[in-house]
Formats: sequence, C-alpha cells, structure tokens
Amino acid sequence: MQQVLARFDQAIGLETSPRALASSGAVPDAHASADSAPLPAAGAPGRAQSAPLAAAPARGPSKAPAPAAAPSASAHVYPPESLRAPGDAADRALRLAELDARHAASCPHCLSATGHTRLVFGEGAAHAELMFVGEAPGDAEDRVGRPFLGAAGEKLDEMIKAMGLSREQVYIASILKSRTPDNRPPMPEEVAACGPFLMEQILAVRPKVIVTLGGPAAKWICGTDAGISRIRGTWQLWTPPAGADCPAIPVMPTYHPSYVLRTYTKQVRMEVWSDLRAVLAKLGRTPPVAGGTSNSG
Ligand code: URA
Repeated sequence: MQQVLARFDQAIGLETSPRALASSGAVPDAHASADSAPLPAAGAPGRAQSAPLAAAPARGPSKAPAPAAAPSASAHVYPPESLRAPGDAADRALRLAELDARHAASCPHCLSATGHTRLVFGEGAAHAELMFVGEAPGDAEDRVGRPFLGAAGEKLDEMIKAMGLSREQVYIASILKSRTPDNRPPMPEEVAACGPFLMEQILAVRPKVIVTLGGPAAKWICGTDAGISRIRGTWQLWTPPAGADCPAIPVMPTYHPSYVLRTYTKQVRMEVWSDLRAVLAKLGRTPPVAGGTSNSG
C-alpha cells in the first residue's frame, strides 16, 4: 500500500505538497475546506459528449454599476439557444464565447462584486468529456483571469495528469466567476446570481462526467445538503435546467485540491485517487499510473 500511495503521490505531485506549499508561501483557498460554506442546494442542473480548445482570454478589471438588487436564481433567463443540444466542437466554442461575453455584461453578482479585479470565466476544451467545477477564483486566478492557478491549480494539474489527461483536454470552471472579498466562501445569493451561468457553461460543453472539487461545488451541482466527506466517491447527478435538451450528467464529488494540500493524510490521498479512478472507469479510460492500480503496496 505504501508503494501504491508513493507512486500516486509522485504522479500527482502530492509527495511535494507540504514542502511546495511551505516554500512557495502559497495559501490554499481559505474556503476550500473538506466541508465548507453554507451554500444552498441550488437546484442546479447537467450532461455529455466531447473535442478542441476554448480558453477564455484573461480580461481586465470588470467593475460596473451595481444593480438595484441582487436577483434570485429564478430571475435568470436562459436564452433558448442555451437550452438546445450543442453541436460540434466549433459550435460549443462559439456558445462558450457568447456566454463569456454575456456573463461579463450581465451577471448580477459579478457586476456588483467588489472583491475582485478580473473575471475568471473558465477554460479548456469546448467539447471536453470531463469538466471540473470549483468554488470561486482565489488570488492567483483573480490576478490572471484563469481558473485554478497557484498551488491548488498545480495540484489539480497533477491530478489531471495522473488520469492520463491534460488541462487542454478537460474543461475547468467554478461556481462564482469573481473572487470573493478575502476569499470568503460564496454566499447563497451570490451563487444564485452567478451560478446559472455555470449551468449554461455545462449545457454548452456537455461533458460526460463532472467532477466537483470541494463541498460547496458538490452541494450546488448535486443539489444536496450532504457534506463532501459523506458524498465524495459516490456518483451523483446534475439535473439540467427545465427545458434544456440535455440528459442528467453523472457527477463525482471529490475533495478540493486546496484541502488535499492542507490535509496530507494517506486516507485523503487514497480517497481522491479512488474518486479519479472511478471517473476514468466511467469514461472508459484506463488509469495510466501503474501505482494507481497496483496491489503491490
Ligand atoms: N479554487 C476554485 O474553486 N476555483 C478556482 O478557479 C480557483 C481556485
């Protein structure tokens, strides 16, 4: 077992995590606990297929006049175009580009938010089979405008690599697209306002599987109040918004990379790898890491 863990640690870079964190001075997301944030099960909704790259360009500061009042989730109007089944990779990339622009121009949360400098829309393959969903951008992401950078981003990259994939082959997004003040957990009203744009993102990409990272993402995507410690490793479903031409999409909740970095225990490492292997199996892929399947340890 020790050998198995050592090989997986090496594959995803976890064997360097505590040191890397300490030496880089990187502070994982304050809100990325095993079970953080008081997010509501926001009725979210999801589903499947895949191809090229639709990286959202980093953009500049995006402050705008605050709307009179933060609308609730029900105030989000899904354009008919966002509810139709996506076409090929180019069609998905176009839809994502339109959504990116529309979100920047109209997201009630991001237009009124004050804790950020850049929006972080998300990036990756528009036709990705696998989509990762986090919570909200942190400092590093806020500076650059791309999701999952810094220490947590490196861990996510390593987890993706251990699965035999690259960042360019998957799609990465978060519930909130702007950093919260002091990196505090997203508030329910913020999620209600910004979250529907993630729903549209999922509809455009139509991954075969969604992996949620951390408790808040799992709660919202899966529509549950269950803590991440309880539901991680168990298949859940994302239910698409009403009227969407999209089936439910299987969701695998796992720990947030920041939590993995902070909680460097054998159990957490084993659980994350187990979750990722289940995802690979669902996608019909074989784990490329010998240690991940070996029983020699
Ligand atoms: N953590 C998240 O949950 N999302 C990001 O984009 C970055 C860090």
